[in-house]
Amino acid sequence: MRSVVWSNNCLTLLNQTLLPNKVEYIECNDWQRAAEAIRRLEVRGAPAIGAAAAFALVLGARELTGLEFCKFKHKLAATAEALRQTRPTAINLFWAIDRMLGVVNRLPPNTAADTAIAALEQEAIAIAQEDRTVNEKMAAHGAGLFTTPTTVLTHCNAGALATVALGTALGVIRKAWSQGNITGVFADETRPLLQGARLTAWELMQDGIPVTLITDNMAGWVMKNKMVQAVLVGADRIALNGDVANKIGTYSVAILAKEHGIPFYVAAPVSTFDFTINSGTDIPIEERCATEVTSLGGNCVAPAGVQVFNPAFDVTPHTLISAIITEYGLLQAPYQESIKQLAALRK
Ligand code: MRU
Repeated sequence: MRSVVWSNNCLTLLNQTLLPNKVEYIECNDWQRAAEAIRRLEVRGAPAIGAAAAFALVLGARELTGLEFCKFKHKLAATAEALRQTRPTAINLFWAIDRMLGVVNRLPPNTAADTAIAALEQEAIAIAQEDRTVNEKMAAHGAGLFTTPTTVLTHCNAGALATVALGTALGVIRKAWSQGNITGVFADETRPLLQGARLTAWELMQDGIPVTLITDNMAGWVMKNKMVQAVLVGADRIALNGDVANKIGTYSVAILAKEHGIPFYVAAPVSTFDFTINSGTDIPIEERCATEVTSLGGNCVAPAGVQVFNPAFDVTPHTLISAIITEYGLLQAPYQESIKQLAALRK
């Protein structure tokens, strides 16, 4: 199961909108198809869309072969801008695009387009490969939190499907499971697009990790009945004060965890931190179309014309977060301090 694959100048994406019913791949031969895949959530999850956007820029750059370098850079910047418009919340998308443009901007003024394209391809491959090692490091650090057999609850999908490799939250779960410290996982179904039901349940079942699917409104009762001992989720953007944007519903789960005295952990790589914003109020929250809420499995489940609010993400305040697991180790409160230290480490 690989969500993002680059080979023979082609970007292949596992079409996540069809899972678990169909395992089908999309071949993106141009950057527009890759952009469309990001917009439609055919590829989704913060690190995976970052990697997909990096390869989309390589595809875009290939169309500029033979151009004089100044024109090449100008047109590449326009492609980058279009890619930035695909989804607003996950910062990994912007991080990957900036990193790719940085490579081109550091080349000397008379660089041949082919040289720039080769450098871009190398960088995109590096972004994808690094995601693999970063996931492994996070898994090792995060697994240390689980020293006795624990059942965890997760929300949305922060697994291999959402990254290039092991996953963030599910990477930690996989590692802790291999060490005998995970007894099972409760997966919230994650309405409206069911990433928990369709993707997390499927992914964990592939690995033989015991998973129990619940609807989103069951999490409180599961906690009340002491059926989970920890919550572990991924993130789309983390502010300097430790506020975390993640899939809509995460905030409610965090409040429930607090009420029941259950630790609430977030697993996210440094590329998910936005070191330019002070708090979660500065995080742009994507709003998606009403039909995602008014229909289920292609069937209409609400009266025609009903007013709908469909934010795709919410922000969990740092006060509800027990620890943030990164590739550099665990961050704890005061987050203002620990995130400042993280920013310095990454430089
Ligand atoms: O809208 P999605 O499916 O892209 O949202 C994904 C999430 O919210 C994930 O939890 C997040 O990206 C972490 S993925 C490692």
